[in-house]
Amino acid sequence: MRKNFIAGNWKMHKTTGEAVALAKDLVSALAGGPNKYMIAPSFTALDAVSKVVSGTNILLGAQNMSTDEQGAHTGEVSVLQLKDLGVQVVILGHSERRHTYSETDDMINRKVKLALSHGLEVILCVGELLEEREAGKAEAVCEEQTRKGLAGVSADDLKRVTIAYEPVWAIGTGKTATPEDADAIHAFIRKVVGEMYGADAAAAMVIQYGGSMKAENAEALLAKENIDGGLIGGAALKADTFAPIALCK
Ligand code: PGA
Repeated sequence: MRKNFIAGNWKMHKTTGEAVALAKDLVSALAGGPNKYMIAPSFTALDAVSKVVSGTNILLGAQNMSTDEQGAHTGEVSVLQLKDLGVQVVILGHSERRHTYSETDDMINRKVKLALSHGLEVILCVGELLEEREAGKAEAVCEEQTRKGLAGVSADDLKRVTIAYEPVWAIGTGKTATPEDADAIHAFIRKVVGEMYGADAAAAMVIQYGGSMKAENAEALLAKENIDGGLIGGAALKADTFAPIALCK
């Protein structure tokens, strides 16, 4: 039985003080909540937020990570530095990284393997652009990103991977995939995982939906058989909008 995993991606929002205040509100609001939780503040706020969520039911996430463990990589952040701050989960392959910062499937795969080799959990994001959906390529894009993102990941390490299906046209746009459309892609991604790792791994894989998820649509999305949580951007920036999603059964 899969447990829903509700994750907040705060993107490039909030000063450290604002991040700490939100984290404190969430610690109270989500205490005893029925799902698995994670919040991913900006790198600059990780240390302070780490102290707030440590020992609670909220995992600390990072929004990205370097392909390399350490070295001459100006402006990058290493897995060792994230672990040092208490980070437990890292979001990789977010569409903003793929499409604004030109991250390739190969780079994302290197990051996935590096994070897993250091014991972190990974949220691997996949999803099609609007033109790809309109050209009937949504499944092909998600399959390619899933297969390439997970290439070389062992069945044992796969247990620490969550996949987030985030149709790019739904991110931050207010447009949400219908629960039926999203569920169909989730089922398809689960089938791909089954082809790669077998039926048990496919059944256990937690697949989040992301893209304008909010209190008003979360229940209908989460009710679908193959939707096991959410990766939430805009609605994760306030306790009032995140908690109602996070507390959905
Ligand atoms: P959104 O972002 O909820 O603002 O659409 C989701 C995401 O990018 O993870």
